[in-house]
Amino acid sequence: MAVTILAIESSCDDTSVAVIRDGYVLSNLIANQDIHMSYGGVVPELASRAHQANIVPVTRQAMVMAGINAEDVDAVAFTRGPGLLGSLLVGTSFAKGFALAQSVPLIEVNHLQAHVMAHFILEKDRETRIPSFPFLCLLVSGGHTRIIVMKNYLEMEMIGNTIDDAAGEAFDKCGKIMGFPYPAGPLIDKLAAQGNKFAFTFAKPHVKGLDFSFSGLKTSFLYFLRDRIKDDPSFIENNKADLCASLQNVIVNILVSKLVKASAQTGIMEIGIAGGVSANSGLRDGMTSEAGKRNWNLFIPEFRYTTDNAAMIGITAYYKFLRGEFAGHDVVPLARY
Ligand code: KG4
Ligand code: ZN
Repeated sequence: MAVTILAIESSCDDTSVAVIRDGYVLSNLIANQDIHMSYGGVVPELASRAHQANIVPVTRQAMVMAGINAEDVDAVAFTRGPGLLGSLLVGTSFAKGFALAQSVPLIEVNHLQAHVMAHFILEKDRETRIPSFPFLCLLVSGGHTRIIVMKNYLEMEMIGNTIDDAAGEAFDKCGKIMGFPYPAGPLIDKLAAQGNKFAFTFAKPHVKGLDFSFSGLKTSFLYFLRDRIKDDPSFIENNKADLCASLQNVIVNILVSKLVKASAQTGIMEIGIAGGVSANSGLRDGMTSEAGKRNWNLFIPEFRYTTDNAAMIGITAYYKFLRGEFAGHDVVPLARY
């Protein structure tokens, strides 16, 4: 019997709903919230209001695109956390209501685990290479920077973590310093393509083991610009592309070098990247060239599965469904999971 899962993602500022059948995506819709751009970051209250407005129409549309009715749904999956509590509450409550109305089970999903599980999403018209276990994955998003070892579909071990800011935050905060709207990562990526990555050098932090640190980079970037602007008030405007390329280069170097270390330490050659920052072309190129040198079997997710999406929630839920891991209706969202 086919298993059809309706999946809801509402942990931050994107309302996303997907329909997954037997691991294949039937639909995956995302309603972005442009409202946060001018604020320099996500405003939690505005995010939950927008989720409230979006959740019903996005679900309806995802079901139409998948060609299913409510009666076809075998389980409802939702992001339990980590994330913004008000945003998570909208998805959690909606999922509970839908599951109750249809008398189907609920499946709660950890958003971070789902980012890594994005590597297992199948599509009907696309041949997908899938990692084998153990699988070493760098999870880089707006809130997290972690090195994870996946032992099987649902079991993971974290072997590296950031001690302060996440890699995505480094992109966003440095972008904010340059006057870019939120999130700055994609714009820095675009401008970096026209710049010289060796134009400016920023010091790499020395952090022990497999952990990361990005707050020092942000501070040195700020002081560097402050000094240069004293002599040339248009310094940022005149050097935008080079600044972006140089900043991206140091962030990519920090990430790739730790992953090289993690692979050497664990002996794992099945390697991937996941999360919003894995959309970055510098990181994708850096990983590809490193994989060539080291004979890694490299996995880079499709762009649509890097940033927040419900398909990754659905694929994680599918494997939980097969194991009979369901949630009770007393389940509550967790800002920290
Ligand atoms: O995974 P995600 O969508 O949300 C979280 O769970 O945090 O990641 C969002 C982060 C933001 O910091 C954004 O700036 C960054 O991913 N990002 C990028 C790119 N696309 C998204 N950073 C660098 N280059 C990109 N192309
Ligand atoms: Zn995310």
